Amino acid sequence: MIDHDLLRRRAQELLPDDVFGYFDAGSGAEVTLAREARAWDDVLLQPRVLRDVTAATAATTVLGHPVSSPVLVAPMAAQRLAHPSGEVAVALAARDAGSLMVISMRSSTRVDDVGQVAPFWQQLYVLKDRGVTDEVAERATAAGALALVVTVDTPVVAAKRVGLPRTLPPLGVVQALDDRDVTDERLQQARDVGPRDLERLAETTGLPVVAKGVLSAAAARDCVAAGASAVIVSTHGGRQLDGVVPTPLALPAVVDAVGGEVEVYVDGGVRSGSHVLKALALGARAVLVGRPVLWALATGGSDGVRVLLEDLTAEALEALMLSGCRSCADVGPDLVRGRRP
Ligand SMILES: Cc1cc2nc3c(=O)[nH]c(=O)nc-3n(C[C@H](O)[C@H](O)[C@H](O)COP(=O)(O)O)c2cc1C
Repeated sequence: MIDHDLLRRRAQELLPDDVFGYFDAGSGAEVTLAREARAWDDVLLQPRVLRDVTAATAATTVLGHPVSSPVLVAPMAAQRLAHPSGEVAVALAARDAGSLMVISMRSSTRVDDVGQVAPFWQQLYVLKDRGVTDEVAERATAAGALALVVTVDTPVVAAKRVGLPRTLPPLGVVQALDDRDVTDERLQQARDVGPRDLERLAETTGLPVVAKGVLSAAAARDCVAAGASAVIVSTHGGRQLDGVVPTPLALPAVVDAVGGEVEVYVDGGVRSGSHVLKALALGARAVLVGRPVLWALATGGSDGVRVLLEDLTAEALEALMLSGCRSCADVGPDLVRGRRP
């Protein structure tokens, strides 16, 4: 088992207090953050027996892209604050672990530098300035992005733990935005993000759009009606509206609503192979992992992130076998107590 507490403590020792705090924090009273940490443990498994798992594999596909693991890297801003090699180190690690990185629009590295080394998905916030938003989407497309992940839970950035800024100005500038001053009002998140934004981004880039930050059947349906090819059930790591439902509790309703049409992914507090198996059993195609990647990056650079992803994948494979499953596709709702097939 990965010792996440130890990894986090080591990162805390190495990082400046404000950077560690920015990475670690949730929003408001951190109710969601605290509950999400426990919610996956509260889901209980019931394994199958008498199955041949000799040839079991954790490999799967996400939007048709083959990955060796259902564990992907969540978009997180300003990774050069954790390590000088930042996003490039994470992209290389994800590539070598057979995973996939989602690069943040608030990245501290230009997307071209990531595109040169690894396959990736580009996360976008729709900004007040739609022109800049589209420019980032186009640049990501040119750099080889396989999909756009549009974050739909952030019409405004929520206040973080007392004493911390809502957003840490990432090294003064955000490279993804071409050294523009990100404190400029026009580069803040738009408060009027609507279906038309998802439609426009899909149309102009020709890429599949993944809507990140849905927590209900209705929200998922709205995103799919606007053309989303997939959705991510996410509380933004407990960093947006505090008090929202932890993702393992939100996931089944979203899967029931749109799982027949689009792929559903989930993030938030996923820390072990057992958690990954639970996510798949509740209907997710893959999971995304956030903060542990930052802790591994801060403490071990690219190698640290690769080892983390490989360890999580090895744990997920072991959990698959222990539950009598040969593949991610083989996992079903029967594995989760109380969840009817
Ligand atoms: C420091 C930090 C920065 C983040 N930046 C972004 C971002 O730029 N865009 C986004 O959609 N989500 C962002 N997130 C949310 C993550 O993508 C993800 O939803 C969340 O961290 C998953 O939860 P976990 O950290 O418990 O694994 C950020 C999270 C953290 C911790």
